[in-house]
Amino acid sequence: MKNLLALNWKMNKTPSEAQAWAQELAAGLTPGEAQLAVMAPAIMLTALAANLPAGVAFGGQDVSAHESGAYTGEISAAMLADVGARYAVVGHSERREYHGETDATVAAKARQAQAHGLTPIVCVGEGLDIREKGEHVPYTLAQLEGSLEGVGPDVVVAYEPVWAIGTGKTATADDAEELALAIREALTTRYGSDADRIQVLYGGSVKPDNIASICAKPNVNGALVGGASLKVADVIGMNDAL
Ligand code: G3H
Repeated sequence: MKNLLALNWKMNKTPSEAQAWAQELAAGLTPGEAQLAVMAPAIMLTALAANLPAGVAFGGQDVSAHESGAYTGEISAAMLADVGARYAVVGHSERREYHGETDATVAAKARQAQAHGLTPIVCVGEGLDIREKGEHVPYTLAQLEGSLEGVGPDVVVAYEPVWAIGTGKTATADDAEELALAIREALTTRYGSDADRIQVLYGGSVKPDNIASICAKPNVNGALVGGASLKVADVIGMNDAL
């Protein structure tokens, strides 16, 4: 299975900067083995559509759980699909923590994404307290089950231990593999052989110098990258390492 290098800009850059970034990537990227996708603020997606190199996908960092209507400020799956988005991140820990998103909300968003042909990137992962109690596997699997309620197998799952996000503390490649394997087994139980084509990503302080060892693990099929996604040179470094 191909690795997916999913870039999450979070709330960074302006539309003009997004355009310049995409043009710089187009000038410097040598297509490699990995699939690339840029998850940008929705206001930047048309600039990405016009300027990203061929074969590089893009998506939203979130999507509404609702089809349309009186939901001020939200972005629907139909809107994302209409500008050519392929993915929508759902259930990122920052959405869960700062916006109170529950597993049920995350699943509703993932279903809505799929209804419009988008692949949801469903994020799960434990906080430091859970890790220190040694409960990270059952905690993350319970979160996964709730977040996939009614969701079909056209999905990507990202395991992101919250204590490793933006902190410089990377889980070891073995830590990532422990959860990736547990997630893959849960996906197989849920989806049968359809689970074989689901990419399971690791996220949390991934950089050019650690991505290869993490993605070399048998059940890790790519990375969801925040900080190191902002500079084109780092993205090219990660792409080349895969
Ligand atoms: O979505 C990306 C993750 O939150 C990881 O962020 O690479 O800055 O640690 P980070």
